[in-house]
Amino acid sequence: MTIQMEPANESSTGSEDNGELEAGRDWFHGAVVYQIYPRSFADSNGDGIGDLRGIISKLDYLHTLGVDVVWLSPIYASPQDDNGYDISDYRSVDPIFGTLDELQELSEGLHKRGMKLVMDLVVNHTSDEHPWFVESRSSRDNPKRDWYWWRQPRDGVEPGTPGAEPNNWGSAFSGPAWDYDDATGEYYLHLFAKKQPDLNWENPEVRASVYDMMNWWLDRGVDGFRMDVINFISKDTALPDGPRGDGKLYGDGSPYYLSGPRIHEFLREMHREVFAGRDKPLLTVGEMPGVTVEDAVLFTDPERKEVDMVFQFEHVALDQEQGNKWRPKKLELTELKSSLGRWQDALAERGWNSFYWGNHDQARAVSRFGDDGQYRELSAKMLAGVLHLHRGTPYVYQGEELGMTNMTFGAISDYRDIEVLNHHREATTHLGHTDAEVLAALAPLNRDNARTPVQWDATRHGGFTTGSPWISVNPNANHINAAAQVDDPDSVFSFYQKVIAFRHEDPVISDGDFTMLLPDDPHVYAYRRSLPGVEILVLANFSGSEQTPQVDKSWAEAEQVLGNYTSRPDLHLKPWELKVFRRLG
Ligand code: GLC
Ligand code: CA
Repeated sequence: MTIQMEPANESSTGSEDNGELEAGRDWFHGAVVYQIYPRSFADSNGDGIGDLRGIISKLDYLHTLGVDVVWLSPIYASPQDDNGYDISDYRSVDPIFGTLDELQELSEGLHKRGMKLVMDLVVNHTSDEHPWFVESRSSRDNPKRDWYWWRQPRDGVEPGTPGAEPNNWGSAFSGPAWDYDDATGEYYLHLFAKKQPDLNWENPEVRASVYDMMNWWLDRGVDGFRMDVINFISKDTALPDGPRGDGKLYGDGSPYYLSGPRIHEFLREMHREVFAGRDKPLLTVGEMPGVTVEDAVLFTDPERKEVDMVFQFEHVALDQEQGNKWRPKKLELTELKSSLGRWQDALAERGWNSFYWGNHDQARAVSRFGDDGQYRELSAKMLAGVLHLHRGTPYVYQGEELGMTNMTFGAISDYRDIEVLNHHREATTHLGHTDAEVLAALAPLNRDNARTPVQWDATRHGGFTTGSPWISVNPNANHINAAAQVDDPDSVFSFYQKVIAFRHEDPVISDGDFTMLLPDDPHVYAYRRSLPGVEILVLANFSGSEQTPQVDKSWAEAEQVLGNYTSRPDLHLKPWELKVFRRLG
């Protein structure tokens, strides 16, 4: 196929070899991204599943909120084993979501309102129903055999029985990372579900096909990609056994695929083949579980031409025992500050941060980091302020701007997420835990918390659907919903509007330096942003009791430019209070 490039503008650098950066800051320093999880956003046809027409009907809502970019979780053809993160055709829209024409309409509707569209790029794996995999599994000498990771069973163990897998790696969704294929007598690798076989990025044809598909989307007018588990694509080709922790059924293969040997090479090649020479502002963000801050600098240094920013996971692992999301532990504010502060410092000179409290894989922000009871609105606003005023591009996950909370699910049959269902089965059948124990442990952090439908109004099913929703709507939709908030100047929604506008209007937010203050204060999150001639102080109380943070007293005379209580000229903080001061000099 021929790739049509946008007409190059005279002054553009054009060529991949030219290291010149656009003069001035990157446009995304001042941008806010909003994530839509289409299945749970808005249902237009009453089948209980959110769809593109539903999103189109809410474009004015997004515009009113003020966000600059919409990141759409996958809407491609998919058997929906992992809600669309298992793609069977990269160039079509799944009929449950709509059509390519509707996607075009959505894209135009966003552009018309000054917003951009970023698509999800899921290329660590495909669906097992993708024609590439169907061919690959058809015979050992199929030309696409090598597009995936096929390996012989372990010597001396009956193929297809436990222990015969080529190595000991576990899948992120429980069970081994290998599945035996009778037809050809070999195993294929799947770091996620069985229906998500990993693509073999060592094969240059795989890479060329992926780049071709990305170019196809950019030529259709999309404005960038959020790249799913992109730091998993380069594996140590020897696929050695991984360390096995206490009480674990499987080994941890991540040392052999996390930011693997060729990851930087692959991303630079992708940049060269897909993004170089396109002069319209695009956005690329790599989802990178386990990425280190040192690696993040390399990934996001603009001169290296890899990605604009990464999603890191350190701050969402702090409330899990040794990174195990099924064993929650108390989140310490001092640890949160030390983690996020370290990322701020490391990417101050080179590279760029992204910021999120939540997404479709995480608990709801206000339930996790705030107080979703008595102080729900205050703490939701405080969290918005703290996140958005950092140096980095902030992401808002659908419903967060309404202060939506975690869901209380009853039985395991109320859950839909494959990760939850597989874990529950494994923990109750192989690890000897009771149903009640497993349900209690997974309640706070499981992914379905974020996947209950957006609460639009107080009508049946929160106005999400006229039919029966694919997953229950949170009963608190009767009082937590968009209709009640959009026109209320004191609502969480209105507060999000304010912090988003703040980033647009004040360069000290988009580009100022960052300094963490009071690192040892167990309750107050405090930092300063500054540019020559102007500085901002952010004070935030992460507790339900009053605090008097020990910051420079002269700040009390500065102008308070943002807060979630009526402003008072002092440095005391009420429960979950946020105060932002600005001064010149
Ligand atoms: C990413 C996605 C998650 C998905 C997984 C496998 O982590 O965010 O939802 O299950 O990759 O594609
Ligand atoms: Ca629908």
